[in-house]
Amino acid sequence: MKSLKNSFDLLEKAKNLIPSLTQTFSRSPYTFVEGTFPIYAKSAKGSHFFDVDDNEYIDYLCGLGPIILGHCYPKVDNSITSQLKNGILFSLPHKLEIDVSEQICDIVPSAEMVKFSKTGSGSATGAVRGARAFTKKDKIAYCGSGGVWHDWYAAIISRNQGVPEFNKDLIYPFDYNDFDGLEYIFEQNKNEIACVFMEPTIFEKPQNNFLEKVKKLTHQNDAVLIYDEIVTGFRFSNGGAQELFGVEPDITVLGKGMANGMPLSAVAGKNEYMKIFDDVFFSTTYAADTLSLAASSATISEFQEKPVVKTIWENGTLLMEGFNKLSSENSLNLSFEGYPVRIKVVGKDNKGNDSILLRSLFIQEMVKKGIFLHPGVEYISFSHTSDDIDSTLQAFADSISVLKKASDENNFESYLEGKPSKPVYSVLKSSIHKPNNS
Ligand SMILES: Cc1ncc(COP(=O)(O)O)c(C=O)c1O
Repeated sequence: MKSLKNSFDLLEKAKNLIPSLTQTFSRSPYTFVEGTFPIYAKSAKGSHFFDVDDNEYIDYLCGLGPIILGHCYPKVDNSITSQLKNGILFSLPHKLEIDVSEQICDIVPSAEMVKFSKTGSGSATGAVRGARAFTKKDKIAYCGSGGVWHDWYAAIISRNQGVPEFNKDLIYPFDYNDFDGLEYIFEQNKNEIACVFMEPTIFEKPQNNFLEKVKKLTHQNDAVLIYDEIVTGFRFSNGGAQELFGVEPDITVLGKGMANGMPLSAVAGKNEYMKIFDDVFFSTTYAADTLSLAASSATISEFQEKPVVKTIWENGTLLMEGFNKLSSENSLNLSFEGYPVRIKVVGKDNKGNDSILLRSLFIQEMVKKGIFLHPGVEYISFSHTSDDIDSTLQAFADSISVLKKASDENNFESYLEGKPSKPVYSVLKSSIHKPNNS
């Protein structure tokens, strides 16, 4: 790696201009190892990007997930530029809204109607509002230790300032695979739960028919099942995790993978639920911007025509298996877990506890060799090649001696050349509902 001077100079300017330094907490310097990581990107192509100092990296964050085909993917970029010549945003609806809705309904099993928006959190908030309007109930059962941070009324995580206090009493989180926890929530809030909101999977796999049982219980209680497929949609299979696991929700929230980086999200679902949006004010000026819709149309047709999902599973598997083999051969407490298309970085200290210091040291050593990794989650795109995977594994092999020394000495700090990564948010533990800690 050459210098990072231009990145650091820009950061000094941003300190006076931009609260939290960036627009997205997950992109902030604190997320990575500040001091050893680039801070500003300049350009990208395929599976690689360049920072403002012209250092080149293999990109395993893919713009926080949306770059599913690869950066500057010609078919998508051509679709955007040809639409650009005809106008961006009109005073009337545009045919592309119908075309992309049809494409989504063709490939997402539970989709019969579609409403577009610009951000995943906007669509998640809209879906919850629709479910509340449909059921005329207010409370939400939220699954997953991720917290409801994707809803604008995220009350149960850190960084929840500005959310009215009463909102906390409306959100009932339960753990993934904890069916008893959900049963308990329904028992304690009879006829009050509007919806169960969940990612069909994050990293943990569903056990004991968890997804089927959640669906049944939700419907027995006249609540709406909402899947947040912002990450899993178009990535776990063309039709998302609902297709992979064979369980259809009532409403699905889509985002990241649908337009290869252009800002587009959607709420899709069965007619009976979606009709509620005839009245609910889920409406925004830019939802119909045709550049994003043109990008989405091209992206989805690429999923239909090429083995996109199959390829990212295959390359992700090569990466995961190669990584875990090297790590265990060298007795490192580091592993890649979860799914090949959504990899979780696990690093533990010698007592078996999560070690952010080990994970920080790992990504520090990798970034110095041109491999850009996140300390918690990695994504792979259709443009990543087996050469990229080989280079990544080679970089890991070359990092092992430092990682091993630091682990054996149980002293990661002295090998860290910057500040260790800080979590973007944490779930307020007291908010998780379980029969035994109520
Ligand atoms: C599972 C999930 N849902 C929703 C969101 C929110 O999407 P956006 O950042 O587009 O608002 C994210 C963002 O990372 C996410 O990972």
